[in-house]
Amino acid sequence: MSVMLTDSQRAVVEDQGGSLLVSAAAGSGKTRVLVDRLFRRVLGEEQANMDDFLIITYTRAAAAELRERIAQELGRRMAEDPGDRHLQRQLLLVYQTDIKTIDSFCTALLRENVHLLDLGEQGGLTADFRVLDEGEAELLRQRVLPRVLESFYTGMTPGQTQLADCFGFGRDDRGLEELVLELHSKVQSHAYPHRWLEEQRQSWASLPEDGGETEFGRALLARLAGGRFSIERRMMLDVSVRREGHSVFTEQALNDAVVTKGAVARVLDLEVTGDRAVISSFAGDGLIVSTPTGSTAYSMAAGGPIVEPTAENIIITPICGHSLHAKPFVLGAGRAVGVRLAPGGKKTAYLSVDGGRAFRIQPGDWVECRRSRQVTRLVKLTGRSFYERINQKLGKA
Ligand SMILES: Nc1ncnc2c1ncn2[C@@H]1O[C@H](COP(=O)(O)OP(=O)(O)OP(=O)(O)O)[C@@H](O)[C@H]1O
Ligand SMILES: [Mg+2]
Repeated sequence: MSVMLTDSQRAVVEDQGGSLLVSAAAGSGKTRVLVDRLFRRVLGEEQANMDDFLIITYTRAAAAELRERIAQELGRRMAEDPGDRHLQRQLLLVYQTDIKTIDSFCTALLRENVHLLDLGEQGGLTADFRVLDEGEAELLRQRVLPRVLESFYTGMTPGQTQLADCFGFGRDDRGLEELVLELHSKVQSHAYPHRWLEEQRQSWASLPEDGGETEFGRALLARLAGGRFSIERRMMLDVSVRREGHSVFTEQALNDAVVTKGAVARVLDLEVTGDRAVISSFAGDGLIVSTPTGSTAYSMAAGGPIVEPTAENIIITPICGHSLHAKPFVLGAGRAVGVRLAPGGKKTAYLSVDGGRAFRIQPGDWVECRRSRQVTRLVKLTGRSFYERINQKLGKA
């Protein structure tokens, strides 16, 4: 039974020369018009043969269906004209025609021409090769990765050391592993991954000294010049140590003031006050008095809450608190926080402001933290929200 094509279907069947993109709903006759287009070429003046064509589909199922549909159509046309020799030949050819997925086409092409390949030191490829499946590839990556990193770690240049420090976070090299795997998977989409990597290396090597002259720097400076930025105000803390009525230490913190026991094993007993009223006594490795900005740093790692950086609060977080009620506290920004060694406990502790040099605390000293008159003003050049940033930076397991 011959099908009456719709006008738009006929337009597709009859179109000749150049590229043609057909986009239509499921079941609306795309395969139908493809088959008709093919027969127009085979049976028309051209008298083309089936195996002159390369027909690519997305899936193997689609390739099989298409071959089946072409064979059916051939059968139908032969029934109409049983003596046609050209048609008879097509019946033999239809099973040799390249109707396949792009993967199987490339694999077949490579297999047929494998002898022409010169892989140099990487060794040869024989025609019985097989494409790795995703599970095998993953296993292979896991096996090779430690070796790659090991050879990277032996005899590092200063630049490589810097890279390892930046991505290793001091604890483990998971960050670096992820970077290598991510880069590996991304470069796979390039036809010549090594060539592409080399190009990137060269373009980085010729970066100007001045960050503002780099491509990224120029884009950011243009935003600045165009007024496309906002300014964020971040509260700070004035941190001081009072000893016998005198101030013996003062410093400003954008992030935090940390009181710790130092390297010695014994726990530290600390008393914390807010406007001179006792808030809590902590036993543990120490405590962190943090600004909202610092809440995503050491304080978060010690179990403290994440506070929006533009909020105004003082956060107190115990470090390895050795008690059921050693919980983090969030105070109003107006509180004057006091920390001292609890009487009868360990005799020394250390204070460090924003990760700076340690100051030794004695019994009787008061570490005082209060909101500073000064604020840090940060220029924000992108519209990314705080939550987007922390999820990207800290959201990975
Ligand atoms: N003009 C037409 N008249 C009658 N039947 C038609 C017409 N065009 C297509 N058909 C029939 O509709 C059915 C679906 O067509 P076809 O398989 O070509 O659609 P398709 O767009 O390729 O579908 P899919 O999105 O599932 O691949 C087939 O049985 C086909 O013979
Ligand atoms: Mg189809």
